[in-house]
Amino acid sequence: MELQKEIAKRRTFAIISHPDAGKTTLTEKLLLFGGAIHTAGAVKSNKIRKTATSDFMEIEKQRGISVATSVMGFEYRGRRINILDTPGHKDFAEDTYRTLTAVDSVILVVDSMKGVEEQTERLMEVCRMRNTPVIIFVNKLDREGRDTFELLDELEQKLDIHTRPMTWPISQGQTFKGVYNLFDGSLNLFEANASKIGEKLTDISGIDDPALDNWVGTAYAGKLREDVSLIEGVYEPFDRELYLEGLMAPVFFGSAVNNFGIRELLDTFIDIAPCPHEREAAERMVSASEDQLSGFVFKIHANLDPNHRDRTAFFKICSGRFERNKFYHHTRLDKKVRFSNPTQFMAQEKNVIDEAWPGDVIGLYDNGSLKIGDTLTEGEDLHFRGIPSFSPEIFKLLENRDPLKAKQLDKGIRQLTEEGVAQLFVQFGSRKIVGTVGELQFDVIQFRLEHEYGAQCAFTPLRYHKAFWVTSDNKEQLDEFLRRKSTVIALDKEEHPVFFAETEWMLKIAREDFPEIEFHATSEFKTENRD
Ligand code: G4P
Repeated sequence: MELQKEIAKRRTFAIISHPDAGKTTLTEKLLLFGGAIHTAGAVKSNKIRKTATSDFMEIEKQRGISVATSVMGFEYRGRRINILDTPGHKDFAEDTYRTLTAVDSVILVVDSMKGVEEQTERLMEVCRMRNTPVIIFVNKLDREGRDTFELLDELEQKLDIHTRPMTWPISQGQTFKGVYNLFDGSLNLFEANASKIGEKLTDISGIDDPALDNWVGTAYAGKLREDVSLIEGVYEPFDRELYLEGLMAPVFFGSAVNNFGIRELLDTFIDIAPCPHEREAAERMVSASEDQLSGFVFKIHANLDPNHRDRTAFFKICSGRFERNKFYHHTRLDKKVRFSNPTQFMAQEKNVIDEAWPGDVIGLYDNGSLKIGDTLTEGEDLHFRGIPSFSPEIFKLLENRDPLKAKQLDKGIRQLTEEGVAQLFVQFGSRKIVGTVGELQFDVIQFRLEHEYGAQCAFTPLRYHKAFWVTSDNKEQLDEFLRRKSTVIALDKEEHPVFFAETEWMLKIAREDFPEIEFHATSEFKTENRD
């Protein structure tokens, strides 16, 4: 059947990393290998340079680039690969978290010297929420890095996942020789090479082949043999089931900028990474192979030009076949919607498409009726889970600077927060608190409110540490809590109460004083309570 064939072909994933570990470089090299681009440098780094954190032109540039490279599709060895790009800048982390809700697996890039960094841990926490399968690529082996066993230990401990090396580096930095493939016993010799695709595979027949000594020298060959026997003794064999459950991460070593180690990574990826399978909706599990279309919006991108206030909603197809011009059911609004110009992204090009399949992400032209998390179906009322809001890290009070434009400000901030630029919490009916993960968003909001809505605003920082969605089976205790803490309680966009903890300590005290209240770090619990 066509649907089954299309599903089996697809691999939809994201490349994630702490900034500077090499995500952009690896993305580009995968596109080069896939033949989707032909020259290095075609994929622009989508990160905002750290020196330009409040330069608005940089923000615009970031937005422009991020829509162009939001989804990169290409064909490789008979598979359709969809790479969902995630913003490199930390301030856009929330965007990254949401994109991760739309992938079937991830490749995590780690800098061989820096190991697990702050953003690496946080991204992995998000992956763990849906048990997303992870492949790890240890990058920059051409630089002096850390002891490989020590690095794997750190990955296991800090990321709370079993690792299984698939290749093994022979030395590193100045004396980096290449990688040994632990599965087929082949040896791939390192050559610094930024522009050419190709590699120097030798004809050794395994770890005991004396030719190994000729290729890398007796000392390195001896060390490799020691390492390999240790690996076989210490690490569990690769188990695809454990990988698919997000419990075991196969690890590859290489140097993205030198095109080294990419082929092993890509070939293994397409063999082991999952195709679209099933997805949890609040009502039931939805299998990718169901005939009827279903999917959800995970990202909205607005045109900053006030003369073209169109928006693109990024829609992930979960089941069935999407068809242009067909009427679909918009679950939240309970109405029929139809798209005459759905677009898809192949490498750098955006094309109007007639059909799309599970695993694909398409761009839907939207005039304001789609929100992040919205579900489209062929009639059934489904609500996909796993698209939560996460607690912001910076909170500011929104103040109106032009009393005549109060309505515009209200409309503007509501629309911007629907796009996911920031989260809006309302206190005492009118006090608006805006929460983000980075300072940059406040610049974006201020600029867009002024240019798109003609509203003037200012922000006053609030000393909150984190937001927690609160629920309880004990209604009396919840009411008492909301009353006693009213100065640090607000309602989110769906009118769910949220508690702002000023410090970890305040949270601890609140937990002790109100033992029957549950404090949720994400808004996901809401779908559990959906009727
Ligand atoms: P990111 O998207 O994860 O933030 O990282 P990106 O690919 O932009 O890479 C960050 C820096 O690391 C870049 O250098 C890039 O060239 C370099 N890099 C990537 N892979 C390797 C590798 O295998 N070995 C070495 N030695 N460096 C690597 P940059 O100086 O910040 O930028 P650029 O001027 O080179 O583009």
